[in-house]
Amino acid sequence: MMRRVLVVDDDAAILEVLEMRLTAMGFDVMATRDGHAALAAVEGARFDLALLDLRMEPMDGIRLMEGLHERQPRLPVLIMTAHGTIETAVDAVQRGAFDYLTKPFVRDELRAKISRALATRRWARDRERLLAVGQTLASSGVMDRVLDAVAQATVETTEAERCVVFQLQQGRLLPMASAGSPPPSWPALETAARAAMDKGVPTTFPGVDTGAIVAAPLLVQRGPAGALVIETPSRVEPTEDDLELLALFSSQAAVAIRNTHELERLRSGALAALGRMATQVAHELKNPLAGLRLYARHLEQRLTKTGDGDGANLAQKISGTVDHLAAVVSEITTFGRPPELLRAPVALHALLDECVSFAQARITTEGIEIFRIYDPTAPAQAMLDARELRKAFLNLILNGLESLAPGGRLTVTTAWAADARTLTVTIEDTGSGMPDETLARIFDLFFTTKPQGTGLGMAIARSVIDLHSGELAVHSVLGQGTRVTTRLPFEPAPGRAEDKAT
Ligand SMILES: Nc1ncnc2c1ncn2[C@@H]1O[C@H](COP(=O)(O)OP(=O)(O)OP(=O)(O)O)[C@@H](O)[C@H]1O
Ligand SMILES: [Mg+2]
Repeated sequence: MMRRVLVVDDDAAILEVLEMRLTAMGFDVMATRDGHAALAAVEGARFDLALLDLRMEPMDGIRLMEGLHERQPRLPVLIMTAHGTIETAVDAVQRGAFDYLTKPFVRDELRAKISRALATRRWARDRERLLAVGQTLASSGVMDRVLDAVAQATVETTEAERCVVFQLQQGRLLPMASAGSPPPSWPALETAARAAMDKGVPTTFPGVDTGAIVAAPLLVQRGPAGALVIETPSRVEPTEDDLELLALFSSQAAVAIRNTHELERLRSGALAALGRMATQVAHELKNPLAGLRLYARHLEQRLTKTGDGDGANLAQKISGTVDHLAAVVSEITTFGRPPELLRAPVALHALLDECVSFAQARITTEGIEIFRIYDPTAPAQAMLDARELRKAFLNLILNGLESLAPGGRLTVTTAWAADARTLTVTIEDTGSGMPDETLARIFDLFFTTKPQGTGLGMAIARSVIDLHSGELAVHSVLGQGTRVTTRLPFEPAPGRAEDKAT
């Protein structure tokens, strides 16, 4: 593809000469005397370079450059000026021009500066900003957000069309964050990511159609944890500089991943200890509670007999409260129980229906809409633990409903991936969402922001999904809502042919 050059000069003679020379150098040239026409041209198409005369009326070269940069931020601009206005030219460079050219043109200078402008993009200026951005990000905690921000910053500060951050999880490369346009081919990006992880250094590959794919491994102590991959448009040839820049970015992403691993390790150790203690305490409470309940019932019966209605009422309240306590205690003890699943054929869609109607019955908020979008290609049954999954999904659906204001919406979606044999269940609400501090703690035992909450729901849900070898991810935007995605591998029900709806 020919590189496109925009030339703006109010001197028709110079414009003509430049157009001829640049065309002879193999460029696709758009030459105009009119600044507004130049702005309009950049609205409509991407240029690789602009040559602007400094002194023009009514819009001078600097103003025009600023206008062009608003429309195409990284367009390299060469400002042309006559002898004697070098200061202004230097000023132009400080305000974002790539370089300046003095008139009359010396042939080699023109050629040299143009090729330098095309080759060297503005990495250096962006670099410090990137480093600062990256460090701030890496310390902000929630990994998904950090990776999103790294991908976004990569696209914004390079000329990449897209950026994808892959993370290695149980031998698979999962796209964790992306920015820019969707890739034409995921396998190409994945292959590049793998190769860079094998080599341990940033690596360049030819792009799918044109351009290039550059991948940089995310290195943590234990080895590569994934890779940051960019794809560049056709005209951009990645240089050594680009590779260095990507290495910088990928190190930021790696820091984010490492921090998260570390935090999870610490947290799960502490949680396990806390869990054991809670289970012991709950155990100790169980018997006295049972006794208390019996006494309260007894009292209630006696008072009823003697005709003391008020007293009987009070006794009833006591036993009600004790019942509630006993329920909490039994939840805690089940949580601490050694994990084992009772797998039996389960119709998951029916189970979800059950959870929805049960949860609905417990919610008093008005005007809530619930949508169910089930994938008809999913097997009718699978070997799962219905009891455990009911607990998990019920809590997730309840959390969603509890977050809704009147008029809110909850959507339960399933999607069957036949090749991986997994069913993805997404529970999405348009509720309150969560701030990062809450999001970081939702799996902590007893963490709750609700007056009546026990703070066990999410911990239980995750442990149930983990036991099924599945995955659970939470994405939340404060003030907009929350999406909980669970991916469950299906083991086929024995003695049945593949169930497939037709
Ligand atoms: N869909 C959601 N929308 C907003 N906040 C949520 C959502 N899901 C979970 N949370 C937050 O996470 C916290 C922990 O949730 P979790 O289900 O573990 O406990 P809980 O709902 O507070 O109590 P319970 O043990 O009764 O479920 C909640 O208190 C809430 O702040
Ligand atoms: Mg809950």
